[in-house]
Amino acid sequence: MYRVVNLCYSTSLRMEINACQPAFLAPDCAGRTYLSLRGQVMEHVIDLRSDTVTQPSPEMREAIAGALVGDDQFGEDPTINLLQDRIASLLGKEAALWLPTGTMANQVALRVLTRPGDDVIVSQESHAVWHETGGSAANSGVQFTAVGAKGVFTLDEFLDAIKPRGHVVYPPTTLVEIENTHNRAGGVIFPQDEAVRICEAAVANGIASYLDGARLWNAAVASSRPPSECAAPFDLVSVALSKGLGAPGGSLLAGSAETIKRCVRYRRMLGGAMRQVGLFAAAGLYALDHNMNRLADDHANARLIAERIATSHRIVVDLDTVQTNILVFRLTADAPDAPTVVARARERGLLIFAFGPRTIRAVTHLDVSQEQCQRAADLLLDIVDQWAGPR
Ligand SMILES: Cc1ncc(COP(=O)(O)O)c(C=O)c1O
Repeated sequence: MYRVVNLCYSTSLRMEINACQPAFLAPDCAGRTYLSLRGQVMEHVIDLRSDTVTQPSPEMREAIAGALVGDDQFGEDPTINLLQDRIASLLGKEAALWLPTGTMANQVALRVLTRPGDDVIVSQESHAVWHETGGSAANSGVQFTAVGAKGVFTLDEFLDAIKPRGHVVYPPTTLVEIENTHNRAGGVIFPQDEAVRICEAAVANGIASYLDGARLWNAAVASSRPPSECAAPFDLVSVALSKGLGAPGGSLLAGSAETIKRCVRYRRMLGGAMRQVGLFAAAGLYALDHNMNRLADDHANARLIAERIATSHRIVVDLDTVQTNILVFRLTADAPDAPTVVARARERGLLIFAFGPRTIRAVTHLDVSQEQCQRAADLLLDIVDQWAGPR
């Protein structure tokens, strides 16, 4: 069993980590998370910072331990091959490729589908624009045109934003990227009919299409559609195993065999030479078998928190956007600001994430129960409504 005092960091490294991360987290073997706060150990932390914080369950760890593996660079890892085939078939594509992260999947996708100087149409506040440290400019040399609102855009907005090829002035639009669900917009699902229309128009205009489906499973479960239907309009699609499905790592790109072959090259160019990654694949296969349908519980829990905190006049939450497992809410001018709410919540064992000076994100996942989500909502109401100005 791990205990906070036994974590294998050196004292100086621990101090460094503590300096940039005021709280120090550690799991025990039953998956409970402990929080060490200035030396005080708190049990039963409710961690809503992201759906990436989950602990692999004992059964998932067993699946990892028993995995058959080989050197993937020689195509000899049977478990990664199995996972890639399974994801390709789930998404209705010819082939799939495992990558360590969704960010690398997005970077490889852009590299494969664009050329330097090209224009890429994306939604407002997309992950590619906000959360990839400018990688798309550095790795692919593209520029972005962000359109629409609240994580979605229409066919007309797409058509209006297209810059034609061969023009003496315009950067050619060669790719449209849709994020489904949309992270910064609060887990919003991209309307499928609109995605179909946009991708058809993309084909007509010689533009490729890419789906950043880091949370495509959530979109599929929430809209009762098979993942293959959500993926069908797109040339290339990414999905993650390390978010709602609870695996310790891994995203996959899926598309035509020819496109995936090119992805292998660019994955390597970004440093992604894979070896015995079947250990990750085993966790991914376990997650696909056991953690898919329960995503509906996460969606219900996010809704529960949203409806409860919406009762405060100091919190603004657009309930229409709470469609899956992400909840983004704003604090009014008479509420404490986001860093203050995050700090107060942490003191009481609730971890959430400041998205902006007055904007907070909370994400539900398989390691938080309905009861914990109720408690999280009550804590937030208490912190915000009991606010009496700076102390
Ligand atoms: C929409 C979206 N795309 C891509 C990513 C990147 O995934 P990763 O954290 O595995 O790099 C994320 C991460 O949260 C995301 O929300």
